[in-house]
Amino acid sequence: MAATAPAKDIKIVPRHVAIIMDGNGRWAKERGLPRTEGHRQGAETVRRVTEACGDIGVEYLTLYAFSSENWKRPKREVDALMRLLEQFLRKKTPEMREQNIRLQAIGRLHDLPKTCQEQLHRSIESTSQNSGLTLILALSYGGREEILDGVKSLIESIERGHLDKGMVDTDVFSKHLYTRYYPDPDLLIRTSGELRLSNFLLWQVSYAEFYITPKLWPDFDKEDFFEAVREYGRRQRRFGGV
Ligand code: FPP
Repeated sequence: MAATAPAKDIKIVPRHVAIIMDGNGRWAKERGLPRTEGHRQGAETVRRVTEACGDIGVEYLTLYAFSSENWKRPKREVDALMRLLEQFLRKKTPEMREQNIRLQAIGRLHDLPKTCQEQLHRSIESTSQNSGLTLILALSYGGREEILDGVKSLIESIERGHLDKGMVDTDVFSKHLYTRYYPDPDLLIRTSGELRLSNFLLWQVSYAEFYITPKLWPDFDKEDFFEAVREYGRRQRRFGGV
């Protein structure tokens, strides 16, 4: 296997990278394997990309690991994904502790199977003191659902008298989203070539740079990640200005 370039040339590093990890099913199909094998390989890519973030000093990485819509998949696949997630967390938590990674999660986490929720909370708790990369897993996550939950939370604050209606602006509303503790993503990567947002971080990616690659997620390696970051560095971000 070719050695990965040390990425020393990368000077402009996005603070927050968000990724739509797509193409696990196609990767497996191309090899005549069950879809779950694609997801298993996809979990390996998660490890590689997390490491790549550490190499160049990305502060936040958000991964779209399971969408609100993914519940519609066959039960067998959903169960396999939940098992994989639980295994991943159990196995990787000691590594995350060593690598100074802080795990977080966003989404309607109460929808996840009980054992999965418990493992997730254990992993979050056990990495909570880490100060390196913040790895945020989007689980049972939908952007529209998040905005709706945010609206409900905002209304509640107003009704309880904690907030005046006239004070509501985009910054205040952002504080009612699941992502209230994190900066907005600077770079959004999607693998497997689809040109869609698929209900991911609808509010937060307003000014993110998009990078779409035809590579399927299980094939996406560190060098692919660095290439996306280099491309980000070549773009000029104007945030609506001139
Ligand atoms: C999309 O591929 C991927 C998913 C729905 C799940 C992503 C899950 C993983 C990468 C593995 C587990 C994650 C963690 C954090 C342990 P797809 O099945 O939609 O692929 P297709 O479009 O080719 O069918």
